[in-house]
Parts: sequence; structure tokens; C-alpha cells
Amino acid sequence: MDNPELSRSLRLQAASCRNLGSPFHGDLLDHAAEDLEAGGPVAAVLTPWAQADLRKLFDDAMPLRLLGGLHDLVLSGDVPALAATYPRSGRGADAALAWIAARAAIIRHQDRLAAFMTHEPQTNEVRRSVCLAPGLLTLAQETGLPMRTFEIAASAGLNLNWDRYRYRFGDVAWGDPAARVAMDTEWTGGPPPVDAPVEVIARAACDRRPVDLTDPVQRRRLLAYIWPDQFERMDRIRSAIDLALALEVTVEAADAVAWTARVAAPQAGAVTVLYHSVFWQYMPADSQAALARTIAEQGARARPDAPFAWLRMEPAPDQMTNMEVRLTLWPGGQDRVLAEVHPHGAWVKWLN
Ligand SMILES: C[S@@+](CC[C@H](N)C(=O)[O-])C[C@H]1O[C@@H](n2cnc3c(N)ncnc32)[C@H](O)[C@@H]1O
Repeated sequence: MDNPELSRSLRLQAASCRNLGSPFHGDLLDHAAEDLEAGGPVAAVLTPWAQADLRKLFDDAMPLRLLGGLHDLVLSGDVPALAATYPRSGRGADAALAWIAARAAIIRHQDRLAAFMTHEPQTNEVRRSVCLAPGLLTLAQETGLPMRTFEIAASAGLNLNWDRYRYRFGDVAWGDPAARVAMDTEWTGGPPPVDAPVEVIARAACDRRPVDLTDPVQRRRLLAYIWPDQFERMDRIRSAIDLALALEVTVEAADAVAWTARVAAPQAGAVTVLYHSVFWQYMPADSQAALARTIAEQGARARPDAPFAWLRMEPAPDQMTNMEVRLTLWPGGQDRVLAEVHPHGAWVKWLN
């Protein structure tokens, strides 16, 4: 395959994996790029991108599809020779050895891998709850009301259980100490209001393409996009999935704009919160404008005994890497940035 952009995109993603804490995937992608440049078998699963430019390869997240497909083969248990070379809790791995097994798996399971790679990567990052929860605590503190929480673009709905997790925010903690899912973060700034009275009286979520956790294939696909040498992240999402299954969490298949208009109207006696994380950029500009209008309309219906809040964790303006947690509260529409945060919740700079 003579498209040089393919190996370029593999190498760019390799560097990004290393920066984001997955040296194993970084090295594996460099081996994949070498294989491609030498005319090796990896080219066979990249044929849908044979003519793609770098922009298209980035938009499609082609290298993440390849990594996800290989990890899915590992998690399926069907390719023990590959699984034996992958990192496992407490045990690192040699990416050169893993690539030898991956190369054999690509030849043997080419159709299965190609089929996996037709899906756009879809994740659900549980640790984003450590960024959203302080905002929800702030709302509980400031309104003193029970909460109705509505999440849009919720993927598998794992962050719908934000109040069932245990958090450490620097020197303070919040949540059930016996919670199955616990997380901390590198916290700077004053403490969030951990004494706030939190009572969630309604919760619901939607996604354009929800991940159905009761389907073993979809569940495994969600895990496959977690980088295998990020053991803590893997353990956390497994525990969060178990909890979501036990609680029968569901995510409705719906577009964010129509769903927000239909379900998220404010109601007396509670604060109604619409929230989302890392989703805004996936909507075309006209949908962004329609959603902003719909949210403003719900805000205009708010009353002092029926406030409406919009909480979101999205890239800060002019920022490629860091994100901010922003809160708008009606009546009044007061808007403020509560925190700057790492995209996966590794650190939180609390500004409130
Ligand atoms: C990067 S994922 C983030 C998922 C989750 N919020 C999290 O932080 O882990 C983006 C999600 O947005 C969903 N999505 C994109 N456009 C949407 C739309 N118009 N309506 C509903 N969901 C949408 C995708 O299906 C995907 O699950």
C-alpha cells in the first residue's frame, strides 16, 4: 500500500499513546507502521483507508480502531497466543513480542478484525465523574433541592451513577466508603462542598448510539478501547459496568436535541440538571446551535422553586488538550467555569 499517510497516522497516534500513558500501545503502533512500510499483512485491514488523507484518518481514528480490534481479540479469549503477550494487571509486556503475535492474528483473523474496525471507537470514561461530581455537589449546596439528573451522549451510561461512586478530592472525600467504584484525582484549589445534601430523585440518559451493556459483544467492545496497560482504568470500568448491570441502568437511543426538549423540562421542588462530557465536538454546527437553543428554552422555563442547570465538561475555548467544567444556572442564566480538568479526570483544578 503506497499511501504514506497511513504509517504517518500510526506513528502520530503512537506518540499520542505514549503521552497519554500507554507506552505499550505506542510501541505496538510503531511496529504496525514498520510492518506497513515493509509491505506486511497489516495493510490488508487498512484497505478502507487506502486513499485517505491524514484528516480522514484522524477523524476516523483509524489507529484506535486497529488497537481496539486487536485488544478485542485478546479479550475474547479466542486468540490465546496474542493474549499471552499482552499486559495484564501487575505485569508489563514486550510490544515487540506482542507485535509478532498480532501480525499472526491479523493474517488469521483478518475478516473479524476488519469487521471490528468498521465501528467508530466509542468509549465511556468513568473517571470523568470525578470532574462532574463537584459541579453536582455545588448545585445541591446552592439550591438545597433534590436533583433530577439527565445526561446526554451518555454512551453506556456509566456516569449516570455518579452519586453511587466514592471520590477523593485532595484532602476531602465524598460518597459511600463501601462503594464498588472509587476514584481519586490530583486535586488543586479549595475543597468542593462535600457536606451538600444530595438526593437524586430522577435520572435518565440518552445517546445517539447507546452501548447496550447487557450484550456481551458490545460490553467487550467498550473494554477493548481501554488501553491494556492502563490497569487502574480497566479495573474501574469493569467495576462500573458490574454496578450499572446490577442497577439495570439504561440509556435511551435518541438524539440529544430532541431528547432534551422532550424530557428535561424543569419541575417544581427539584433542581433539573442537564449534563454531558466530551460530546459537543461530535455534533455538526447546526445541531450545536439547536441544542444551545433548546437548553436556553428549558432555562427560560425555570422558576425559583424549579431551577434548571446545564453542567458540562468540554474542551475549553482555544484549547486542544485541557477541558473545563462549566455551569449555567437558571433563573437568571448565571454562567461560570467551575474547574479546569484533564480529559480523563487525572487532575482537577477547582476554581469555584
Ligand atoms: C466521546 S463519547 C463520550 C461519552 C461519555 N459522555 C463519556 O464522557 O464517557 C461521545 C458520545 O457522544 C454521542 N453522540 C454524538 N452525537 C450525539 C447526538 N447528536 N445525540 C446523542 N449522542 C450523541 C456518541 O454516540 C458517543 O457516545
